Amino acid sequence: MEFKGRDVISIRDFSKEEIIYILKKAQELENKLNLDLDILKDKILACLFFEPSTRTRLSFESAMKKLGGSCIGFAEAGITSAAKGESLIDTIRTVENYCDVMVIRHPKEGSARLAAEVSEKPVINAGDGSNQHPTQTLLDLYTILREKGRINVNVSLVGDLKYGRTAHSLAYALAMFGAKINLVSPPGLEMPKEITSHLESKGIEVYATSHLDEVIEDTDVLYVTRIQKERFPDPEEYEKVKGTYKITPDTLVGAKENMIILHPLPRVDEIAVEVDKTPHARYFKQVFYGLPVRMAILSLILGK
Ligand code: NCD
Repeated sequence: MEFKGRDVISIRDFSKEEIIYILKKAQELENKLNLDLDILKDKILACLFFEPSTRTRLSFESAMKKLGGSCIGFAEAGITSAAKGESLIDTIRTVENYCDVMVIRHPKEGSARLAAEVSEKPVINAGDGSNQHPTQTLLDLYTILREKGRINVNVSLVGDLKYGRTAHSLAYALAMFGAKINLVSPPGLEMPKEITSHLESKGIEVYATSHLDEVIEDTDVLYVTRIQKERFPDPEEYEKVKGTYKITPDTLVGAKENMIILHPLPRVDEIAVEVDKTPHARYFKQVFYGLPVRMAILSLILGK
């Protein structure tokens, strides 16, 4: 299995065996989190964030520093030459001279793939529009594995399945592991046909509904997502669906005792804060798992 120099653009670029290998590496690094590691000494990560981010950018930076490497980059495109009209291609051609690996988040679908085609250095996609967010998926899988002991459980993806890139990448990955998938979305925000057809072609049991109460009792992992306001072409359409699902302690009556709730975060109003105290809540544990998973990705890509 070779990871050195590879790009991470779509979760579909990786086989199930490769994903398992990355998750094992993450476990190894999680066990060593308190040690002084310098395996990426002299390596530089460039973080190019053309869209807002808290967890993804900071966990990548933290992961790089924990491995002894360093980081450069920007968290806002407005302060870069993009604001003067520079093309993405020219920005990438510039940045690749200053780093060993780059992480990019951009509002346009396909932008990470384009960056990877231009760059000699490996490119990691931290979200390209509503398309994909593969490293989020790796940490979601790691969380499910650590918290449930296996991945082929009954997973309900809830919320904006049309524009939510985390749900897209996760659905593809869950199919590789043979999970059972429920798709719960408001009418109009269903999972794209291309993805549901893929799931069906893999023989995955999929149930789509707009009613959360139809699936809650059978769910092992409730994966809640934010309605992606910034992706709506028409603000009125957003107004119609905002606040459709709100997970409260009442919603959870009837759920399995060991059902866990995940969310890529940020949450707006999809999960009431009262849920945080319940034994189901794992979304902040999920945030923590992002660190060893991104350490694993960086060390493998850089060949260490
Ligand atoms: C997600 C994203 O950017 O796609 N956030 C994240 O990286 N954890 C989810 C979201 O913004 O809703």
